[in-house]
Amino acid sequence: MLISREMVLQQDIGLNATLFGGGMMARMDKAAGICAGLVSHNRVFVTLKVSELFFHSPVRAGEIIEFYATVTRAGNTSITVQLEVRVYSPVSNARRDVTSGEFVMVATDDNSHPEPILWKPAMLKEAAAETAAEVKPRRRKSK
Ligand SMILES: CC(C)(COP(=O)(O)OP(=O)(O)OC[C@H]1O[C@@H](n2cnc3c(N)ncnc32)[C@H](O)[C@@H]1OP(=O)(O)O)[C@@H](O)C(=O)NCCC(=O)NCCS
Repeated sequence: MLISREMVLQQDIGLNATLFGGGMMARMDKAAGICAGLVSHNRVFVTLKVSELFFHSPVRAGEIIEFYATVTRAGNTSITVQLEVRVYSPVSNARRDVTSGEFVMVATDDNSHPEPILWKPAMLKEAAAETAAEVKPRRRKSK
């Protein structure tokens, strides 16, 4: 499911004229949190684990980035979200994969302890249907 779109500004650019990787990670973390919030009634999610973060292609100032999320595991207190980030060109209507990663988010209570997730089944179903209709996530080339 498409979570958000953002414009990359000059201020987001690192030393090598492309988007600073840490900035991309922060944006992905936020998108994973939004995804968790959309499919549940819980108030707070914290990031437990990030894995397989992979920067496929550099991003430059002026480009529009899109954050797509797929729920790959709906647990008791945790949700695993696969994030795919793409650059969208309104001129050519084309997309290119730029970054992907897996985020495990845990729902927490007021004492910062894990709490059961109160799923919104309809939202989960809708998200799965949207994901199936979207561009297929890119997989890492085997070496
Ligand atoms: C997130 C946190 C509350 C989890 O507490 P915990 O006592 O370790 O949690 P639990 O062992 O009960 O596990 C919670 C969930 O995480 C899952 N989990 C634990 N370790 C895991 C791992 N290595 N990989 C994947 N999932 C894992 C558990 O399976 C469980 O999910 P489930 O209920 O859906 O099965 C705690 O580790 C924490 O506060 N971490 C810091 C979070 C943070 O500050 N993040 C950065 C800023 S947002």
